[in-house]
Amino acid sequence: MTLTGAARIAGVMGWPVAHSRSPALHGFWLAEHGIDGAYVPLAVRPEDLRRALQALPLLGFAGCNITIPHKEAALEAVDDTDDSARRAGAVNTVVIDARGRLLGRNTDGFGFLESLRAAVPGWSAAAGPAVVIGAGGAARAVVAALVDDGAPEIRLVNRTPARAAGLARALGGPVRGVAWDDRAAALAGARLLVNATSLGMEGQPALDLPLDALPRDAVVDDIVYVPLETRLLAAARARGNSAVDGLDMLLHQGRPGFAAWFGVMPAVTPALRRAMEATLTAR
Ligand code: ATR
Repeated sequence: MTLTGAARIAGVMGWPVAHSRSPALHGFWLAEHGIDGAYVPLAVRPEDLRRALQALPLLGFAGCNITIPHKEAALEAVDDTDDSARRAGAVNTVVIDARGRLLGRNTDGFGFLESLRAAVPGWSAAAGPAVVIGAGGAARAVVAALVDDGAPEIRLVNRTPARAAGLARALGGPVRGVAWDDRAAALAGARLLVNATSLGMEGQPALDLPLDALPRDAVVDDIVYVPLETRLLAAARARGNSAVDGLDMLLHQGRPGFAAWFGVMPAVTPALRRAMEATLTAR
C-alpha cells in the first residue's frame, strides 16, 4: 500500500520491540481496509518513555500501543487515564485527542472478554464462578474484566498469596484468594478457568493442574500464545471443555486502538488468525 502525505500514523512502544506482533496485526487490518495509514515499531528505552510519548502529538501520531516494559509507567506518563487503565493498573493503548492530549486506556480486559464471547456464543462472566491462576499484570486485567462483567465469584490462585490478596484489595468485587496447593479442588463448580501465569509458555514449566474437578461445560482460557496449544488447553479439549487460546485475546485487544486511530472497528476473521499464526511459527 502506498502512503500519501495525509497518512494516519500509529505504532507500538516497547523495549525491546522487535518481538511485538502488533505491527503485523495492525498492518493486516490497514491492508484489509485499504487505509492510508501506517503502524510502526517504536523502540523506546524506559528512561525515554515520557519524552517519547510527549513527542507523539508533535509528530502528528494518532496514538500508539504500549508494551513491555512500559505498561505500568505509562499510567503516570500520559495526560489522562480512563477506568480501564486504572483498573488494570497499566496502559496498553494511547489515543491522542484533537488538542494533542494523551489518553491512556487498557484494552486487555476487552480483548479477554471478546475472545471468550467469540469462542462461546452467549458467554458471560455472570454465568458462574471463575478460577483465575496468577496475580501479575496480565491477571489483573483479566480479574478486573471478570468483576466488571458481573462474575459472581472469582477464586484467585497464586503461588505468592500476598500478591493475590493485593490484587483482590485493589479491584474489589467477589475476589477470594485460594492457596496454591488448593488449586485443583478450587475447580469444583467453576464455569471458567483462566491461566494468567507464564506457566506453559515456551521455555517455562507447564502449569501443573489436574482438571478432574472441573465441570465439563466450563470454558478453559489460557492467555499464553506461544505455543498456541498449551498442555492445559490440550488436556481441556481432550475431556470436552471449550478451549480459548491467548492469540484470540491478543487479536481482540488490538481492535479498539485501531478503531480510535484509523476510524474503522476491525474484525477478527479466520484469515487474520491464519496470518498471525504464521507469524508465531516464523520465529
Ligand atoms: P505478567 O505481567 O505477564 O502477568 P508477572 O507480573 O511477572 O507477569 O506475573 C507472572 C505470574 O506468573 C505471577 O502470578 C507468578 O506467580 P508469583 O506472583 O507467585 O510470582 C506466576 N508464576 C510465574 N512462574 C511461576 C511458577 N514457576 N510457579 C507458579 N507461578 C508462577
